[in-house]
Amino acid sequence: MKISHTIDKLATERILSPEEFKLLLTCSDPYLHERARMARDAVYGRQIFLRGLIEFTNHCKHNCLYCGLRRENIDLTRYRLSKQQVLECCKIGYDQGFRTFVLQGGEDNYCTDELLTDILRDIKLTYPDCAITLSIGERDRNSYQQLFDAGADRYLLRHETADAAHYSTLHPPDMQLASRKQCLRDLKEIGYQVGCGFMIGSPGQNLDHIVGDFLFIKEIDPSMVGIGPFIPHAATPFSGEKAGELHLVLNALAILRLIKPNLLLPATTALGSLHETGREMGILAGANVVMPNLSPLETRKKYLLYDGKISTEDDPRYCRRFIDQRMHKIGYEVVTSRGDYIEI
Ligand code: 5AD
Ligand code: SF4
Repeated sequence: MKISHTIDKLATERILSPEEFKLLLTCSDPYLHERARMARDAVYGRQIFLRGLIEFTNHCKHNCLYCGLRRENIDLTRYRLSKQQVLECCKIGYDQGFRTFVLQGGEDNYCTDELLTDILRDIKLTYPDCAITLSIGERDRNSYQQLFDAGADRYLLRHETADAAHYSTLHPPDMQLASRKQCLRDLKEIGYQVGCGFMIGSPGQNLDHIVGDFLFIKEIDPSMVGIGPFIPHAATPFSGEKAGELHLVLNALAILRLIKPNLLLPATTALGSLHETGREMGILAGANVVMPNLSPLETRKKYLLYDGKISTEDDPRYCRRFIDQRMHKIGYEVVTSRGDYIEI
């Protein structure tokens, strides 16, 4: 069968056999990205949604083998932003038209429910027209509920890999795929718009793993999926490993768009770090979200999950203009809106 038939089959049936998925993952037929753009445009048009990323703590109790924030990276100077600093980041974003703030951090025991609900309430009081996304890892259900009640709308928790054996090679034994899955179910039941996701090219990953991730995503049925390349960090056990491949990331984005046309799919910072125009290529492969960094310049270099992360020196006061220009060049418009998930 011709590749274009397989692409059309995915667009209509939303599922393929593992062999067909692998064929599309590795293909270089421009129709895959074109068909993904069509699917996205039918739901969201050519509008790109903005999320303002606020990296508010780089403390982390975990030791994921791939991540520069891992606890054993003792060379890293750790920081936490105060509530006032977080609100200042929101203001800088709000003034430029950001209507979603993503509070992201390592798993930091200092961030109790009390501390976080206080910040969430203040953001919501000051910016009632904005959505708040949390990305702070695994917590118990009661904590997720309290944070939701205090105003959090969305939650990003990448599953990292849907294969338990692969998961156990990326994480120490105190982290389990089953508990990650339970968190995702809890978050959904509470009513969050939930995002999962994974890296392309993480050590030990093969194409079958990626197919497994597609099937897992179909089952979880999230509103968002964050995918980007694995990029090695010098202070981790994976420092000598290869980065994920650009074309695989782009094809995976296009495939996800066809599996679920109403997904919110970011063209990630890691994709932009892998290639100068990686985010533009991501949008052209079907992504529809960009997440510029609103964190203070002083802390940027302390939040390096991987080496070569971009935008460590871009002034957050001008990030809107910068991303607008990039998107305009490829014929897309960045919009001032919460950019909520659309049920279809
Ligand atoms: N390369 C790319 N992405 C990474 N992440 C963590 N470390 C790396 C790396 N070295 C991603 C993980 C995590 C998210 C916060 O960042 O998928 O869930
Ligand atoms: Fe911590 Fe998340 Fe990095 Fe793991 S990936 S070490 S949980 S910040």
